Amino acid sequence: MESADILIKNANELVTVRGINQPRTKKQMNNLSILKDGSIAIKDGKIIDVGKNLRYKAETIIDSKGKTILPGFVDPHTHVVFSGSREFELEMKLQGKSYMDILKAGGGIFYTVNKTREATENSLIEQSKERLKNMLEHGTTTCEAKTGYGLEAKTELKLLNIQKKLDKIHDIDIVSTFLGAHAVPKNLNSDDYVEQIINEMLPNIGDLATFCDVFCEKGVFTVKQSKRILEEAKKYDLIPKLHADEIVDTGGALLAAQVEAISADHLLMSNDMGLKKMVEKNVIGVLLPGTPFSLMQQNYARAREMIDMNLPIALATDLNPNCWIENMQFIIQLACLNMKMTPAEAITAATFNAACAIGKNKDIGSLEIGKKADIIIMNCPSYNSITYHFGINLVKSVIKNGKIVVNHSSKLTNS
Ligand code: NIG
Ligand code: FE
Repeated sequence: MESADILIKNANELVTVRGINQPRTKKQMNNLSILKDGSIAIKDGKIIDVGKNLRYKAETIIDSKGKTILPGFVDPHTHVVFSGSREFELEMKLQGKSYMDILKAGGGIFYTVNKTREATENSLIEQSKERLKNMLEHGTTTCEAKTGYGLEAKTELKLLNIQKKLDKIHDIDIVSTFLGAHAVPKNLNSDDYVEQIINEMLPNIGDLATFCDVFCEKGVFTVKQSKRILEEAKKYDLIPKLHADEIVDTGGALLAAQVEAISADHLLMSNDMGLKKMVEKNVIGVLLPGTPFSLMQQNYARAREMIDMNLPIALATDLNPNCWIENMQFIIQLACLNMKMTPAEAITAATFNAACAIGKNKDIGSLEIGKKADIIIMNCPSYNSITYHFGINLVKSVIKNGKIVVNHSSKLTNS
């Protein structure tokens, strides 16, 4: 008998999400390629076999009777590195103050920028590790992380270095995005700050980031400024991403298509023409339903219409001090219950399509031979339960790079 490090067997549903290796659209998003009574064999951090009733000699055998197995969640949009918290803003939001009211009054992002600039590297690492631990315990095995609470060269680079360190010291894999253009610092005019980003920040990023993002929004960065930053970023091999049309339709979706961004995120107010251009240019729509939820908004992104248009959809938390959520299960629930995505579409969006949104779909996002053994075992009989049974953590175990890193009860047996 061949040997493996870990054999997981008897899963009620083994949700492989395997298939076409490019962003999934329409019906493809509903095809989870599920194996009943599935097994999966792991060796040297990789998946070596997926099937029914596999037979391997393994050091660790996990019996997953009655459980559902999924690829680890991929969270393709977070602002995980920041200092402090903003729970006091809840009172303002309840009194009817909007996100932009709070930001323009010098709060919001600016409050967090002050706290982040003051914080030591060690304190930022410790605070972020706590959030990454929550993410991992809720099933996220890879995430994207954005800078953006520095808004000056020194602190933005410090944040990029922290993200690199966190990637090394934490089990979660982190892909870095430079978001120097997250807000315009209070003492500068926006054009001057754009020049600072271009002249003082972009040339010094090197390999500390894979992506460059801009908060393109009315009152923050214009389409013209965003385009300039993203076109400059490309010269340093940084792939464009965009916070697009979150509060006002500024034409962000169209811009994402024009600069050939890998993804455009939020898209609450995007117009059809912009979305169609995104489809033409293979831009992934990353939807962040936690954000309208935390802002107590009634309107969510038009996920159903976007899927009908052939736009590949991914889901993310947007974890930040305005929307403090580490849990992708809750995002899947919001996607289904408030955006009317099907449970299967939401799972594809939180795994395979999310991996595409950070350019990692060759390695992660589905359970296939040769991919990383990033696997979650859920304490529920079916993938449908993840939407149906909300409000608790359904993750039983997390396997990251072939190692059991979370185990919420002791049902492991040694052979
Ligand atoms: O994606 N909208 C801009 N950036 C974040 C929020 C950051 C913050 O409020 O601290 C977002 O929602
Ligand atoms: Fe964001």
